[in-house]
Amino acid sequence: MIFVYLRGHDFRYEVNELIKVFYFDTAIEFIENKVFPDEKSLLIVSDMASTTNEVSVITEVFRGKKLIFSDTIEDITKIDVKENNKNKIAKLAVKQSIFNALAKINPIKVPWGVLTGIRPTKIVHDLLGKGIEEKQVNNILTKEYKLHESKANLTLDIALAEKEILDKVDYNKFSLYVNIPFCPTRCLYCSFLSNPIDKYGDLVDTYTDKLIYEIHKIKVLLKDKTIDTVYIGGGTPTALPAKNLDKIIKNIYEAFGKEHIREFTVEAGRPDTITKDMLLMLHQNDIKRISINPQTMCEKTLFLIGRNHTPQDIIDAFQLAKNIGFEIINMDIIVGLPEEGPEEVKATMNEIMKLNPENLTVHTMAIKRASKLKESLDDYSLTTQNTIEEMLSITRSYAENMSMYPYYMYRQKQILGNFENVGFSKQGKECIYNILIMEEKQTIIAAGAGGITKIYYPKENRIERVPNVKDLKEYIDRVEEMIQRKEKYIKTLT
Ligand SMILES: C[S@@+](CC[C@H](N)C(=O)[O-])C[C@H]1O[C@@H](n2cnc3c(N)ncnc32)[C@H](O)[C@@H]1O
Ligand code: SF4
Repeated sequence: MIFVYLRGHDFRYEVNELIKVFYFDTAIEFIENKVFPDEKSLLIVSDMASTTNEVSVITEVFRGKKLIFSDTIEDITKIDVKENNKNKIAKLAVKQSIFNALAKINPIKVPWGVLTGIRPTKIVHDLLGKGIEEKQVNNILTKEYKLHESKANLTLDIALAEKEILDKVDYNKFSLYVNIPFCPTRCLYCSFLSNPIDKYGDLVDTYTDKLIYEIHKIKVLLKDKTIDTVYIGGGTPTALPAKNLDKIIKNIYEAFGKEHIREFTVEAGRPDTITKDMLLMLHQNDIKRISINPQTMCEKTLFLIGRNHTPQDIIDAFQLAKNIGFEIINMDIIVGLPEEGPEEVKATMNEIMKLNPENLTVHTMAIKRASKLKESLDDYSLTTQNTIEEMLSITRSYAENMSMYPYYMYRQKQILGNFENVGFSKQGKECIYNILIMEEKQTIIAAGAGGITKIYYPKENRIERVPNVKDLKEYIDRVEEMIQRKEKYIKTLT
């Protein structure tokens, strides 16, 4: 157990997230009075004190009554991250000091330093936007945010690659996300909205109709704005019958004008949903970018994680899609799947290299609370931090050999070994939508159960999130309310 006592500040959320990085599975409790715990527990005291001239931060860590480490930052104004917001500096100071203390007590690798958010590149975009030179950005990342050199370089490289695309984005346009919360079956590790299509099949037609209704209403709300990119994701959009997906795509074109859409992705995903008819329908609708996701090319693991398809199904689906003429195919894999090590990752990458897709997204396994894996964790052996690092490095080398470069990135909570997810692309084949959703620089309107709209205000450089309900039946019953929720914010866009 870890008890935490905060004095002089209330950065409870940030402190909690940082402690979890060091102590993944230990319970954390915030207490209102400083009380020493039992000998097995830790007490972390984080104190912020002000004099007339200076603000200082002290972290003390006790095991039982014994002080085992303390760290002091005498004057937080010396933290130079080119930031005027005092609250942000104070938050960083508290995190730095706790980081210093915990890194001594539990010396695991913490590649992302004090960063606990899911978008590390945002900091780099802010710094570059303030005219800070690349070398100094790198210094700030390693010295103040305490990133390992390799992660600082990766973040900077990705931010610079994104910048080229972001600089050309029209912030007055919007992108559309359509959520299809159905899957053939639920994979062991997954916590996304994924209603088994067999169980909820009778709702599929009603869901399709409500979704189309929402799409047309969105058009009415956004009548003066032009669409930019479209992403149909899930779940597994191709779990729908082809005629339903066809209807959805045609209605998107009808509502927003096909000629305005510069990129249209359909996340096909599971090979067991990818038939020739489905691919022909997508191709006839001019969809140029799809995903065919192996996760792994090892048959044993595919069975273990409940994917319901073989490696050969992946190869067949990929070749079929290429023969039909899809320009960009993305493949998702997960590093750190149960019972997998470097050999399995090499085998997976060898097979992917033969297929030679345009995009590859490498996820690091995250143990999600709402997944079946979390419930049955004791039944599986998961990998150590060093092995994950080795496996990620294998994927990077293969990506390089396929002439791909890292072009977007995000982190997740409960990610194994504190690593990250990276999207690789061949030059000129990047998914613009993926960058937009990560960097939050354009309004993204979401339709469907579980979709989260993000309204972007360029002048203030901030977003407002407007979620749709997640439950299928709730969505069907309350679609009108979902539209009204969005209307309130869309009206505030100039
Ligand atoms: C929203 S899912 C949809 C993909 C599609 N339904 C499929 O399974 O092929 C997008 C990707 O997230 C990744 N993913 C899902 N759960 C994950 C987890 N717990 N840890 C790491 N990656 C995960 C998988 O690589 C998956 O392809
Ligand atoms: S990984 Fe894909 S197919 Fe599997 S449950 Fe999640 S969304 Fe569905």
